[in-house]
Amino acid sequence: MSQLHKGGVVILDFGSQYTQLIARRVREQNIFSEILPPEISLAEILTKKPSALILSGGPSSIFGDEAPDFDSAILDAAIPILGICYGLQLLAHHQGGEVESIGQGEYGFAEIEFDDPSGLFSQIESPSKVWMSHMDRVSKIPNGWHTLAHSSNGVIAAMANEDQSRVATQFHPEVAHTEAGKTILHNFLFKIANCTPTWTPGNFIDEQIDLIRKQVGTGKVLCGVSGGVDSTVVAALLHKAIGEQSTAVLIDHGLLRKNEAQNCVNALRSGLGVNIHCYDESEIFLSQLADVKDPEEKRKIIGNQFIYSFDRISGEMGRMDFLAQGTLYPDVIESGFSKGKTAHVIKSHHNVGGLPDDMEFELVEPLRELFKDEVRKVGRELGLPEVLIERHPFPGPGLAVRIMGEITEERIAILQEADQVYMRILHEDGLYNEIWQAFSVLIPVKTVGVMGDQRTYENLLGIRAITSTDGMTADWYRMPYDTLSKISNRIVNSVRGINRVVYDITSKPPGTIEWE
Ligand code: XMP
Repeated sequence: MSQLHKGGVVILDFGSQYTQLIARRVREQNIFSEILPPEISLAEILTKKPSALILSGGPSSIFGDEAPDFDSAILDAAIPILGICYGLQLLAHHQGGEVESIGQGEYGFAEIEFDDPSGLFSQIESPSKVWMSHMDRVSKIPNGWHTLAHSSNGVIAAMANEDQSRVATQFHPEVAHTEAGKTILHNFLFKIANCTPTWTPGNFIDEQIDLIRKQVGTGKVLCGVSGGVDSTVVAALLHKAIGEQSTAVLIDHGLLRKNEAQNCVNALRSGLGVNIHCYDESEIFLSQLADVKDPEEKRKIIGNQFIYSFDRISGEMGRMDFLAQGTLYPDVIESGFSKGKTAHVIKSHHNVGGLPDDMEFELVEPLRELFKDEVRKVGRELGLPEVLIERHPFPGPGLAVRIMGEITEERIAILQEADQVYMRILHEDGLYNEIWQAFSVLIPVKTVGVMGDQRTYENLLGIRAITSTDGMTADWYRMPYDTLSKISNRIVNSVRGINRVVYDITSKPPGTIEWE
């Protein structure tokens, strides 16, 4: 058990849509947190040496037949516990309190007043706005416990045992709508559980350098870089840990954003001294894609060709013992115990640009414990440029799924040009970082226009911008009219081949983020 993980927080996941958010909120206070299945035994939890336990919310009712539960031995352990929503109801139930189902839930904002302003609620003004999302509620608190707060409609909003080593909230402190949520979690972590804030990007990097060196020994590591932030951070981290023992490879399929391959290679090679090679495979990819219009076929061709190219290139490099990948914590959790959640299903077609499972390399995955926002912090600490760190997600098949119909060099060039103008304006207007993902789509349908005294007959461009937290659901971004107008004017005036711009106002669901 490393120093970084010891004294962290174990979160038992009862299936709440906010469980990952709880983990992130804890880590934002520089404390490691780990999400584990609810039925895990106390003995296993103790091997993690946690400073605190959090019981998440969840969609179940404790009255249900298959209501998930925890190992009741944890109640005898001397580890402070915070129960949230379903977690509160489970605690009440285990400790001899009563939970009732009144057939009518409480969803959205509620105002709470404190009955005990010490401990969990210290330094917070009463009343305070919180976010509720529950069906059942506690009707009688356990013996020896007391009410910490109640909501204006009489619901027990928070309760605790005498010394507050067991506390619970009916509302969700992890959700941004809960006004004092951050302070409440801070109070639990530092005033109640006495955690030590050692989970920092600097400490993480130091620890990973040690771990990578131990794992790799004198072996050689191949690191696939896509231009995205995750693989770029992996390449930078490996370079710092083992220098020339690691070789980074970027396969350019010719469908990246304008100058993206070169910018990424420059940042890594000139900026950080990473040993990186870029392979221009665009000719072969584009020849395979000639005349192909069907989205699924495009994806398959690119996925397969990527594997062929990677196989050939890695074969040319001599013996490589390890393959480094930018796997993140949400992928680890999704493919582990929470299998079957919708998140998993939606992602299954997204392995384009990935590698098959049966490759004969041992994997090095230094980002397995990180959320995306933490990867960005680590990237900054490693000295990567901000443009690379803040870059929006990009699909494996690249512009192929953003050019409707046939892919030609001319169409790629038009789309790259237009998208570059679009991204520049988002940066100029300070909107880029407010948006989760923005991109342009080439719709090769010609419409009539007029420029000067000339009639034009050119392509249509769709522009999309969405807000999201994980790409699973998304809303279209309410782009200011002035920015929309600037984008359309500049693109139509400066990009040959486009004479009309439309803005996509479809959310996900029912739309998907990409058009193909
Ligand atoms: P959709 O279009 O399914 O996209 O709503 C959700 C997110 O996934 C990205 N995406 C991909 N990422 N390989 C990837 O690595 C893929 O084949 C792929 N297809 C879509 C998409 O850009 C969005 O962020």
